[in-house]
Amino acid sequence: MMSKKLFIQTLGCAMNVRDSEHIIAELSQKDDYTLTEDMSEADLILINTCSVREKPVHKLFSEVGAFEKAKKPGAKIGVCGCTASHLGSEIFKRAPYVDFVLGARNVSKISTAVKTPKFISTDINYDESDYAFGEFRGSPFKSYINISIGCDKKCTYCIVPHTRGDEISIPLNLILLEAQKAADRGAKEIFLLGQNVNNYGKRFSSAHEKIDFSDLLERLSEIDGIERIRFTSPHPLHMDDKFLNVFANNPKICKSMHMPLQSGNTKVLREMKRGYTKEWFLDRALKLRELCPDVSISTDIIVAFPGETDAEFQDTMDVLEKVRFEQVFSFKYSPRPLTKAAEFTNQIPDDIASQRLTRLQSHHNEILDEIVAKQNGKIFDVYFEELRANGAVAGRSFNNFLVQVQGSEELLGKTLKVRITNPKRMVLYGELVE
Ligand code: SAH
Ligand code: SF4
Ligand code: F3S
Repeated sequence: MMSKKLFIQTLGCAMNVRDSEHIIAELSQKDDYTLTEDMSEADLILINTCSVREKPVHKLFSEVGAFEKAKKPGAKIGVCGCTASHLGSEIFKRAPYVDFVLGARNVSKISTAVKTPKFISTDINYDESDYAFGEFRGSPFKSYINISIGCDKKCTYCIVPHTRGDEISIPLNLILLEAQKAADRGAKEIFLLGQNVNNYGKRFSSAHEKIDFSDLLERLSEIDGIERIRFTSPHPLHMDDKFLNVFANNPKICKSMHMPLQSGNTKVLREMKRGYTKEWFLDRALKLRELCPDVSISTDIIVAFPGETDAEFQDTMDVLEKVRFEQVFSFKYSPRPLTKAAEFTNQIPDDIASQRLTRLQSHHNEILDEIVAKQNGKIFDVYFEELRANGAVAGRSFNNFLVQVQGSEELLGKTLKVRITNPKRMVLYGELVE
């Protein structure tokens, strides 16, 4: 019998990318599906959704509408992921041609979902932390590995705890097994995933040895063949000295740290329930720069959180200036259902939010131009993993700069020295060093 075809579209964060890999693995092993990039030939069309801001939720309904028009007769449509969790059966009401709805952290039920008419499962307390998923990897060069599911923080703007539930750490033996499998198939990089990775070890679903995130990093770095360890997202509150020292001193841990600031103002941070102050954040970031001079630091910032005054926003600009982040992901605050902040009565008008976002981004571009200019002439170890247009190949430096050289397939999977000759904001162009 010919295998059935699966088309899958993934929105949102790296956890969704990993969930999609799990979905593909389960469906190919249990139900004989193979992947296709052509939606019109698919027997099953899936969208793995994101709810973190309002925009991607709108995108879900425009996308499933397009699926319904383009699909071949009899093909099924399934909605998975975070929006499935929080909208649940409302998805059937707004898009009656959807065949099933499968929430985040219910991924292991995918094989049942495709076979059950109008299947719906959105239990955010469902525990699949020790489920042994089948094996599928989107990239041969790096492996995403979940180390926890859910999130115990209750940041007042954030919907994630309502879509992915409470935090549960994945048992150490499963993580080590995944990392060993990565090494065995020649992937030199592992990328650890969780909403709050440096809270690892706080709660397991059954008895487990005592372990924290720093210990986990040390254990993983003992695996031969793994040369690079990355992770996201750590939380600034849990960046204690032990963690910063392990980060700085372990030679396999890539020297790029994501430090999600959200706001530089202590009062706003309190209203966001982030648990740290402006001073704590600056102390940790500057300590990190001191311990680890090559580190690149990225961040997430929300502008125009309810009640944010211009003076409070100025504190965010001040932290930007002091830390000089190598990368900034910035967003206008977006009120989300089920969150506390959506009920705050002091929401900020959109024109002010837009102005702040523009000010932040243009100031960061100035900082970035200086950072980028300084990379000219430097030599980086680049792990090549992606073919680009016009005979180019790209990869990441140890501290996470995207670097591109002229070259072909044979560079893929290798770590080579590159001298930067033409640094730009998004890509540092260079040439291989003989
Ligand atoms: N666990 C991660 C965040 C995951 S969500 C952490 O704590 O950093 C990714 C980013 O989306 C957040 O860092 C935040 O900057 C942004 N975000 C989350 N909720 C948002 C909202 N309601 N409006 C705008 N941006 C939001
Ligand atoms: Fe959301 Fe906060 Fe958890 Fe990050 S730490 S996922 S922002 S609740
Ligand atoms: Fe989006 Fe869910 Fe990730 S809301 S950012 S896909 S955890």
